[in-house]
Amino acid sequence: MSATAEIVPEALALEPALARLAAGDPVAIPTETVYGLAADATSGEAVARIFEAKRRPRFNPLIAHVSDIAMGRQHAEFDALSLRLAEAFWPGPLTLVLPRRSQSAVHALVTAGLPTIALRSPRGFASHLIAAFGKPLAAPSANSSGRISATSAAQVAADLGSRIRLVVDGGQTPVGVESTIVKVADGRLELLRPGGLAAEEIERVAGIELSRPKGQGIQAPGMMASHYAPRAAMRLGVSEVRPGEALLAFGPKRVAGTAAAVENLSPSGDLREAATNLFAMLDRLDRSGAEIIAVEPVPNRGLGEAINDRLARAAAPRDHLHG
Ligand code: TXA
Ligand code: MG
Repeated sequence: MSATAEIVPEALALEPALARLAAGDPVAIPTETVYGLAADATSGEAVARIFEAKRRPRFNPLIAHVSDIAMGRQHAEFDALSLRLAEAFWPGPLTLVLPRRSQSAVHALVTAGLPTIALRSPRGFASHLIAAFGKPLAAPSANSSGRISATSAAQVAADLGSRIRLVVDGGQTPVGVESTIVKVADGRLELLRPGGLAAEEIERVAGIELSRPKGQGIQAPGMMASHYAPRAAMRLGVSEVRPGEALLAFGPKRVAGTAAAVENLSPSGDLREAATNLFAMLDRLDRSGAEIIAVEPVPNRGLGEAINDRLARAAAPRDHLHG
């Protein structure tokens, strides 16, 4: 895409943003923390476009943004403590990692195939937009991978302007850093990412202390223990399938050998389609009962880099997954 994104003031942006979202295009929107690059969280194709626009080298799970607690409850199971935190701090810079409900229509590319989902209810324009859209919006920070998060529309446009169509201008974001991410697990409250809501404020409402996952120094966002790990072992970049193996294929040509089960990420070799299929297909092959999932080579260009990153993480020994 060589066109330049249109920058529209938020007072005029609801209709054009809804139209873009309905068409599956990512839209940069202001939230109280940082600008987000938002897309329909229920559409794998739309979410794949977020990763494409960010040139994200890996598929980290994304936050699903909801308009309120009621929308959140359609997609996740809230324990009593998480509910109390949502009631105290939503809308606001707090993200809750919760068990995903099986009925949730949020796409597996958002949750990276995990049984959990990260939910946040943002303030302001984003909240009105989600309510009008009627579905959650997946939205990582609106910056190219590896760059700092954008806190103004001009910053977003300078970075992503040639790769997206619409930037909604809500001025400078008041909080300026990403949301705080917490998770209730085994009666403990874990701080997964420090952010725009102070730990002390959370502790005051929770009545218990936050625990920091130990053994880690500074934890880069997205580097948390949040990686899909299949039960089966994996062989990547195979040139043939061995007896008993399941095959994760890519493209029109098959490697030699007969697989016990086959899923093709994209018969036509489309990397965006492959991205939307990745987690669901890995899961189906894992459930097929095969001990080993053989994976055909996936080209390392475009979204292929992120696909290969996730495949490598899924294939890595478990103690490798935290880095
Ligand atoms: O303030 C924010 O949170 C901004 C604005 C746009 O809302 N969004 C944001 O999204 O920072 P993103 O994609 O850059 O960060 C999402 C973080 C990642 O570090 C990811 O690993 C974590 O949330 N995450 C998402 N789902 C998770 C899950 N199920 N379990 C653990 N961590 C999860
Ligand atoms: Mg980010």
